[in-house]
Amino acid sequence: MTDENHNNTPSSDPSAFVRRGIPPLRRGFPARGAMLAGRGGRGGRMNPVASWNYSGDEREPGLVEYLEAKQSTVRGDPDAVLDAIWEYKQQVGHLMIVGKSKGLGVEKLIRERKPKLILELGAYVGYSAVYFAKLLPEMYPNGIYPSEWNAENAGNEDRVGYISIEKMDNFAEIAEKVVDLAGLGEVVKIINGSSTPVLKSLRKTLNMPAPTTLDMIFIDHHKPLYTNDLKVLEDEGLIGKVPRAALLSILKILIAWYAQGTCIVADNVVMPGNPAYLSYIRATPQAKRQSASKGILDNPPASFHPNCSTKEEWQSSFRDGPLEETRWVPPDSEGVRGKGNPELVYEGWMLDDVHEAGGWDACEVSICQGEVGDGA
Ligand SMILES: C[S@@+](CC[C@H](N)C(=O)[O-])C[C@H]1O[C@@H](n2cnc3c(N)ncnc32)[C@H](O)[C@@H]1O
Repeated sequence: MTDENHNNTPSSDPSAFVRRGIPPLRRGFPARGAMLAGRGGRGGRMNPVASWNYSGDEREPGLVEYLEAKQSTVRGDPDAVLDAIWEYKQQVGHLMIVGKSKGLGVEKLIRERKPKLILELGAYVGYSAVYFAKLLPEMYPNGIYPSEWNAENAGNEDRVGYISIEKMDNFAEIAEKVVDLAGLGEVVKIINGSSTPVLKSLRKTLNMPAPTTLDMIFIDHHKPLYTNDLKVLEDEGLIGKVPRAALLSILKILIAWYAQGTCIVADNVVMPGNPAYLSYIRATPQAKRQSASKGILDNPPASFHPNCSTKEEWQSSFRDGPLEETRWVPPDSEGVRGKGNPELVYEGWMLDDVHEAGGWDACEVSICQGEVGDGA
């Protein structure tokens, strides 16, 4: 599981953490049901767990020191680096990194789907990047990796890589060090920047011509940005199944049959929860078209949070929206508004996890089936 502080930026007064030392993980939170209902059920925004301070103190630079002290035994060995980070996490109480059970679920998905191009939103210290990117050289020993990407091999099917976007300069720097230590410097490209504008120019940055799409996306950054960033990815044609080139319809249907659509894995959709994202990714094209025609909202609407107490209830919620809050563009998107492509169809399920705070959390897994009219 991963968690983050509510606005995803560390405390504005880092010295406060230094004065207090590394804060232990807070205990004594209410039960999950109480959290969901406690913020007013339908009127609440996110679970209180989202407001814990999980990062931004000396624990991240401390991780680098810890790993450097062990480098003779961990260098070049991704599993040893992951174990050392986990060991360190036990010592400091908490790091907002993907949990082992969820990590295993995503690993299984990667092994099944064999993605070549994976995008991650939110690198933090590079733990999930090492966890998932280490599978790429195993699957594609002869791939062309980001360090070799250039205009000549743009669009080449052998391009393989793990791209991770991280907003905080210090975390991006740490993630690079961790990835290098794991021997994955050639496989992983960390982009230091705010996700939404970075996504807008990602094709150009990566020299990745249309109609190439991403094979997998792991969304694990600022929760209110999930929906707008997904829409930007849709706008940029980075999500899909059938290449958008002008193909004969019959050929399109055949490709749609064999092709693998982009697989999107969005973390923490139950805890702290992300109703807007679930509403959008699960909505029908018709509902999305209607919502898109209404334009943007100037202020965030009251968030819908269903009072679901079972997984079955979560699974069946949001099928018909509401899409109201997906029309608001959070300020963290830095003025880049995603319009989205209502014609894209997704099929999905929830990947279980146990939240460290207790209770059930999940990733929403969505596989793009292509556009309406492409046989989707
Ligand atoms: C939960 S952590 C990611 C954990 C990581 N995926 C792992 O499992 O090891 C969330 C990260 O997203 C970053 N973040 C928040 N807002 C962002 C944005 N707009 N663009 C890029 N990164 C952002 C935060 O700085 C933080 O490092």
